[in-house]
Amino acid sequence: MKIGFFQFSPCHGNALENLKLISAALDQTQFDLLVLPELASTGYLFDDPMELQALSEPADGSGVFLGGLITLAARHKACLISGFCEHAPEGLYNSAAAVDSSGVLCVYRKTHLFNTEKALFLPGNSGFPVFTFRQVRLGMLICFDWVFPEAARALALKGAQILCHPANLVLPWCQSAMVTRSLENAVFSITANRIGQETGQGQSLVFTGRSQILTPKGDILAQAGVNEQALRIVDINPMLALDKRFGAGNDLWADRRPEHY
Ligand code: ACM
Repeated sequence: MKIGFFQFSPCHGNALENLKLISAALDQTQFDLLVLPELASTGYLFDDPMELQALSEPADGSGVFLGGLITLAARHKACLISGFCEHAPEGLYNSAAAVDSSGVLCVYRKTHLFNTEKALFLPGNSGFPVFTFRQVRLGMLICFDWVFPEAARALALKGAQILCHPANLVLPWCQSAMVTRSLENAVFSITANRIGQETGQGQSLVFTGRSQILTPKGDILAQAGVNEQALRIVDINPMLALDKRFGAGNDLWADRRPEHY
């Protein structure tokens, strides 16, 4: 299975421009699964929640960004996963959608909001759904979820073989922490971070790049630079993530002691 990420600097407030950028970058490229950054349709910081509201769209694929991604997924015969701002009747969610040619396969609403996101988004209530694409079980995390090991563990216990992780990282620790998330759950992970800088909500943020793809042993199969636009695709055997043995005498699942946790 060919899996990858596209790391770029989303154009603030312009979903169509971001779609064009993504579409141009993926042109002529073959992959089965590709992950894009958190809020790849809108950008990250918004002083005016109404501005973000105007850029939000429903999770059913009827909006500009997810609709465009479905078309793109059909063209590439692939699954695309991207962060977007979800418009729900009760408010906005910082969400990620997985789409293929048939439409939206799964939506995840960010559970652990980071810092000033709390002023813009409702805390996610989707739980950690796992879905199947081409007989491979996939799950999604969004950015700051990395610091809560329960999130990755919940997906892995439900059978996720690949953790798909759209991100807008600003702290320096996630890329190394995800090595442990992959290793302790014996799963592949794809962290698709963004690059660039944004100012708003009383702060100026520099996004840290270094998107990466990790094996179930935590080995790095691909990693982008700190500030480069980068598309990386690698070929993996997702079945490796079904093997939870850990060295000669242990098994990560059989040796858990949940009665003590
Ligand atoms: C983050 O969760 N965007 C840092």
